[in-house]
Amino acid sequence: MTDVLIVDPMQPEAEAIARAADCLRAGGLVAFPTETVYGLGVNALDRAAVTRLFTAKGRPATDPLIVHVTSVDAIAPLAAHISDDVRRLAERFWPGPLTLVLKRSARIPDEVTAGLDTVAIRIPRHPVARAILEAAAIPVAAPSANLFSRPSPTTAAHVLEDLDRRIDLIVDGGATTVGVESTVLDMTGIVPTILRPGAVTREMLQHVLPRVDEHLGSLPAADAQRAPGMLEKHYSPRTPLTLYEGIDAVDLLINDARSAVASGKRVGLLVAPGDLEQHAALARHCIVRELGPASGDIARGLYASLRELDAAALDAIFARAFRDEGGLGGAIADRLRRAAAGRIVRG
Ligand code: TXA
Ligand code: MG
Repeated sequence: MTDVLIVDPMQPEAEAIARAADCLRAGGLVAFPTETVYGLGVNALDRAAVTRLFTAKGRPATDPLIVHVTSVDAIAPLAAHISDDVRRLAERFWPGPLTLVLKRSARIPDEVTAGLDTVAIRIPRHPVARAILEAAAIPVAAPSANLFSRPSPTTAAHVLEDLDRRIDLIVDGGATTVGVESTVLDMTGIVPTILRPGAVTREMLQHVLPRVDEHLGSLPAADAQRAPGMLEKHYSPRTPLTLYEGIDAVDLLINDARSAVASGKRVGLLVAPGDLEQHAALARHCIVRELGPASGDIARGLYASLRELDAAALDAIFARAFRDEGGLGGAIADRLRRAAAGRIVRG
């Protein structure tokens, strides 16, 4: 059985935090909110527990985990070296939605890093995550708390949907505020490189580091292990999703949705407020989710909308691209492209 403990997201109750921390220390699997998405935590130094976590998620052992801690001092035993650049990034962006890939120490089990010589580390900002990490006083490896290849969970209900009976405990601190996973920045090469875009953008990083590269699109297979989240079909709903990009995106989407409805298909639409204003008849024949207008709202609602549409037993989902105006725009575009797994129409 998976127990659910509801807590105050800003001031989580000490008793619930102590239970979560004890469970982690005893090798249990505990889901908890971070500011990005819910994580599924496990003692990062307990090999057997880490192996159970991979089984619970159905995650391939080749996909490395992010280790969560509460201070830069706590990184010292886990990383081979903490450079001045890493300290400057930590100062500016931690606690927060940034993950740094560093050269690892021998202390981290191979199960956590998938055998790589690097380790991903994050200090999260969410009060519930921080309280649990502080009480447990161990490094906590935590992937997103979803079944492999499902959208990341932004509520405790999403976690239950995927992992009920597969994990020990869920700490329910309400919906997460960012909604998409942390920026992953590889600090082990000559030029720091963004492996996964998130709320901490390249522009923000460039205030601290002179040069930051960004991997765009999916990686060649040989490189895929550097950031398995970058495998094309990672964050995908089960229902085929087609993404419409470009100036005429909404017109093309509406045309295709009309044809699909006319041929008897059950269709879901992921659009912006106002897109269907002149198309009330079409909207009545589809399941519609609107996201926006601000990118913060889109990111917060994106995965919940994908899950809702996916649960509606549809034949097809048509989604529009949202304007990529910096901030969370890059991360939203990235996650929608992955959800589309190559089905992209450019208008
Ligand atoms: O916001 C987040 O990052 C959430 C919360 C729970 O912290 N966690 C999360 O974990 O999204 P997960 O496992 O779903 O995604 C981890 C990403 C993957 O894309 C993985 O490839 C990358 O981090 N990663 C982990 N270790 C790495 C390493 N040593 N080198 C390169 N990429 C790594
Ligand atoms: Mg994930």
